[in-house]
Amino acid sequence: MAAIKSILTETRVFPPAEAFVKQANVSGMAAYEALCRQAETDYEGFWADRARQHITWKTPFTHVLDDSNAPFYKWFDDGELNVSWNCLDRHLAARGDRVALIFEADDGSVTKVTYTELHARVCQFANGLKSIGVEKGDRVIIYMPMSIEAVVAMQACARIGAIHSVVFGGFSAKSLFERITDAQAKVVVTADESLRGGKAVPLKRAVDESLTMGDTSSVERVIVYRRSGGAVNWGARDLWWHELTQTQAETCEPVWVSAEHPLFILYTSGSTGKPKGVQHSSGGFLLGAALSMHWVFDAKPDSDVFWCTADVGWVTGHTYVAYGPLALGMTEVIFEGIPTFPHAGRFWEVIAKHGVTTFYTAPTAIRSLIKLGADLPAQHDLSSLRLLGSVGEPINPEAWMWYQQTVGGGRCPVVDTWWQTETGAHMIAPLPGAVPTKPGSCTLPLPGIMADVTDEHGGPVAKGHGGYLVIKRPFPFQLRTLWGDPERFKKTYFPQELGGATYLAGDSAHRDEDGYFWIMGRVDDVLNVSGHRLGTMEIESALVSNLRVAEAAVVGRPHDIKGEAVVAYVVLKGTRPVGAEAKQVAAELREWVAREIGPIARPDEIRFGDNLPKTRSGKIMRRLLRAIAKGEEIAQDVSTLENPAILDQLKEAVK
Ligand code: WT7
Repeated sequence: MAAIKSILTETRVFPPAEAFVKQANVSGMAAYEALCRQAETDYEGFWADRARQHITWKTPFTHVLDDSNAPFYKWFDDGELNVSWNCLDRHLAARGDRVALIFEADDGSVTKVTYTELHARVCQFANGLKSIGVEKGDRVIIYMPMSIEAVVAMQACARIGAIHSVVFGGFSAKSLFERITDAQAKVVVTADESLRGGKAVPLKRAVDESLTMGDTSSVERVIVYRRSGGAVNWGARDLWWHELTQTQAETCEPVWVSAEHPLFILYTSGSTGKPKGVQHSSGGFLLGAALSMHWVFDAKPDSDVFWCTADVGWVTGHTYVAYGPLALGMTEVIFEGIPTFPHAGRFWEVIAKHGVTTFYTAPTAIRSLIKLGADLPAQHDLSSLRLLGSVGEPINPEAWMWYQQTVGGGRCPVVDTWWQTETGAHMIAPLPGAVPTKPGSCTLPLPGIMADVTDEHGGPVAKGHGGYLVIKRPFPFQLRTLWGDPERFKKTYFPQELGGATYLAGDSAHRDEDGYFWIMGRVDDVLNVSGHRLGTMEIESALVSNLRVAEAAVVGRPHDIKGEAVVAYVVLKGTRPVGAEAKQVAAELREWVAREIGPIARPDEIRFGDNLPKTRSGKIMRRLLRAIAKGEEIAQDVSTLENPAILDQLKEAVK
């Protein structure tokens, strides 16, 4: 990969303000470096210390890392704990009256729940799950709107050792069906409808549809939370949430599990069509969640009001909504709506309304809010803020500057956090009271995270040169396997080319002269659209499953707000459509993809050709398609192309 000139010209550096350093959980660079040194000299001792500090164990562990069956690593595996007990019960005595969740509904109404109340609701729902036969190790699909109940359902599963798999409420019935069957779920938890931006989305109807798509006989019950009161069809396996829980006891003895017991499966896109069921552990995951809250968000449980805007359908909503803040006994905001409803100042209004101190969102949201009103933050009192975070994709230096200056008033550190569904928690991010920040860089790894940039054989690359982002040693919060597919787990993340024990993140990156990491993007056929991972193959498979379509190739194109836009090249079975017909078929196919996968995957643009550009050996030339999508002159030698004339057709987008 080539040297990266443009990014290296970024010279702005922001050391943490003295006032922030003074009160920080990790103060000053020397403290950060001391932690890094401890990890280097005594790796297992370092992690054991952290695991004792941040987790309350029922049975203390004596094993730390077990790498005898690498890369199927185990951590703390003879230790026993319960994640829900750590998130709820352990706070009750000292801080039971503290507000755990502030629910800000789409319409602006607010519901607050204390730790004591949340504990009771989780226990009731856990007892409800038990009453319908859910046991330790059973899989429960959660297909819910952002709500207190979504968190209750997740925590209740953790309480009884059931493995949840949350499916984002924006995914289609088809996507839901695939996840239900892959996980062989026993129960599905859903709502009648979700409400976002004033619009109702019929979740229960999607569940009904998914259960008719094939063999879903593993599903015994569907639990329905009444959110909107919208009409639903009712079947023999359906159960209302309120009817299931109303007679249940408000206490429920947790099921103590090994640290290695799976806490959840979360499906994410890979470079093939089939989503990957990323499986996380109980102990290691909880440690990552709690530790990164403490280190990266500099959490102050007695005074902070934390707000992560991510949906619980994504990993960010697992680690930094459902688990991390609760593990520390914090108060957090849960937001049902969207950033632009009923007006483009909604985020700023919510921050002022609840006195949010720590705000965590995605670059795509920041960019769209700049566009909708760069001066809107100034109309709200944002003086409660003390720390800002970014996640999901590289943040452009100018968006970073706006975030820091206009939202943070220049006084709040900005933590750009690099991590993945697979890593469970932050990996590369500044500890805000220690590490100076640079706009556009996620800075330095957390202590104990041995991140590096290498060439394709695991060899070193020169400073400023791009390479593969890797993690050289196992860490407690990494995924344990892919559900039902250990071979794919090994091949994808611990490839033989790198020796079989180095974690390959799938991102390209480079390091600057200070050792700072700059993430350049994915190396595989995965797109990042509005901070969401989408496999190009997934979208292609969806297109090809349409009867009209013979062949399809999907690529990304840089997009101002979404980061990447989805461009689909399509060959129909009949003749290539033109004019009004092309327009109509393109609209139809866009809706088709939205139905097959979910609206986030809807192609921004469809281009029709008589064929796709292929090499003589029949490979689609994706690099060429990416260049065409960007409108670039084709400098590449096309002499190996079977059918060069096709390129002119594909330059034309359907308007
Ligand atoms: C991919 C992981 C981690 C939670 C949200 C996404 C990209 C994530 C950053 C960042 C540059 C980032 C990477 C990564 N990414 N955070 N701060 N800077 N890129 O989780 O869906 O598993 O996606 O998102 O490409 O591999 P995910």
